[in-house]
Amino acid sequence: MLDDYLTWKPFFDIVPMQDNDCRGVSDLHGQRFSRQWSEEEMLSLLTQAGVFGFCALQTNAFFSRPLGGFVLAREAAGEAEILTIAVTEKVARSGLGWRLMQAAMREAQDRGADSMFLEVEETNVAAVSLYRRLRFAEVARRPAYYTAADGTRTAALVMRRDLR
Ligand SMILES: CC(C)(COP(=O)(O)OP(=O)(O)OC[C@H]1O[C@@H](n2cnc3c(N)ncnc32)[C@H](O)[C@@H]1OP(=O)(O)O)[C@@H](O)C(=O)NCCC(=O)NCCS
Repeated sequence: MLDDYLTWKPFFDIVPMQDNDCRGVSDLHGQRFSRQWSEEEMLSLLTQAGVFGFCALQTNAFFSRPLGGFVLAREAAGEAEILTIAVTEKVARSGLGWRLMQAAMREAQDRGADSMFLEVEETNVAAVSLYRRLRFAEVARRPAYYTAADGTRTAALVMRRDLR
């Protein structure tokens, strides 16, 4: 019994994002980014043409299905882009980012996209490493694109991957 408790770990399903996920998604966005996108912004994005998302929902919690992460993406005219992605700090580095990206790439491909783009802060080691492992390659660099709270400027990388 104690062994079960000590080895217990959360399991997650990756499921399409629904309107009623937007509050939790906005909360998690606020925990992981300096400017939170509100529930209304999330809802409005999700209802735009070509926009879709996935949530990682825990399947072995007792009373609810806690959100472990999400991804929001858009497909238009054969090109897809990642709008935002985040995983809770509690379960970081346990493969959810990878699974969410795989789901987004598959869905984009099913919707007719040949390629996927994203933009990432050059100093975001976790995200850049994840994207490189997923075979995204840098296609542009925008110097001094982001400004941190202390005024430091950092570059944005634009990355691209073939989906075919
Ligand atoms: C980027 C982010 C989504 C990654 O999610 P994650 O679930 O922790 O990533 P995964 O566990 O799926 O990692 C997959 C691979 O990505 C790379 N990676 C992930 N986190 C890393 C880290 N902190 N340092 C180095 N490499 C990392 C590794 O190659 C990892 O594979 P490995 O664990 O077998 O070595 C997560 O760190 C996050 O939410 N960050 C804050 C929000 C953010 O920056 N979003 C991206 C904006 S562009």
